[in-house]
Amino acid sequence: ESDTDMSHFLDIHKTPPEALRSILTSAANMKSARAGRTRGAKDDDPALEGRMVALIFEKPSTRTRVSFDVGVRQMGGEVMVLSGKEMQLGSGETIADTARVLSRYVDLIMIRTFEEEALLELADHATVPVINGLTNRSHPCQIMADILTFEEHRGPIKGKKVTWLGDGNNVFASFAHAAGQFGFDLTFAGPPTLDPEAEFVALARSKGVKVEIVRDPVEAVDGADLVVTDTWVSMHDSQTTKERRHNQLRPYQVNEALMSHAKTDALFMHCLPAHREEEATSAVMDGPNSVIFDEAENRLHAQKAIMRWCLGV
Ligand code: CP
Ligand code: NVA
Repeated sequence: ESDTDMSHFLDIHKTPPEALRSILTSAANMKSARAGRTRGAKDDDPALEGRMVALIFEKPSTRTRVSFDVGVRQMGGEVMVLSGKEMQLGSGETIADTARVLSRYVDLIMIRTFEEEALLELADHATVPVINGLTNRSHPCQIMADILTFEEHRGPIKGKKVTWLGDGNNVFASFAHAAGQFGFDLTFAGPPTLDPEAEFVALARSKGVKVEIVRDPVEAVDGADLVVTDTWVSMHDSQTTKERRHNQLRPYQVNEALMSHAKTDALFMHCLPAHREEEATSAVMDGPNSVIFDEAENRLHAQKAIMRWCLGV
């Protein structure tokens, strides 16, 4: 049987704006309630007591893996980390059957996988909430943490200009989903071969926000409140494309010269892991406008709030 109060967290555009806002408020409250505590201390209100969470990884991870694990423990729950390779996921049996089986053992599933279809099949057949921990197509937990981070430093993101440099990838896609839901404008600058999926751009535009696709990085960052980039080669990209991608993306490197064209108080973000001196220089990553480690920390707080929302606790 399924818990009627449960919700999946599959993508930012699939979660109602009021729910997204309440998740961010809850994340900020949980974060401030823990100020000064040791990392392993339990929350005063351990909302996941008696709950068992499975974290499934079909790709490498540092932040997602550790932040979900620590978050569950802080909330008093139990957690297991599973590697897709060691499971019967989609090879020994259908993903639908894995979903049915896991739903008899655990209360919540987080999965990082390749094809979005695998995530959706799992969610369709699980009777417990499923959280998207990154697919080839999106990375919603990251952008919830990024918005939490932006608002901590600069206040409401509504009406601000976010500029993305580089590959129109899965992390960009979640920014596009978020633009429509949170009401910020988004500019993409990169080579035409690495443009974002038209569907995501159209969706954001249909919600009344401005989404621009430009080729000139300087024009793109003009007036930006937030400048974001990501690795030039994602985990699902073939290594054979590496050289071509590097050649095409080099003009979009975020360096101090480029940042000087954004607003003077523009923040810099990168979801990490980063290749220093490729997509961004260390001068920017470690500079005064960079909030990359706040973003990493906020994965923890945002995901704790996402898990509570999924379970309705
Ligand atoms: N940003 C992010 O998701 O990092 P990991 O791949 O280390 O989880
Ligand atoms: N775009 C990157 C993000 C890693 C967190 C990837 O998919 O590999």
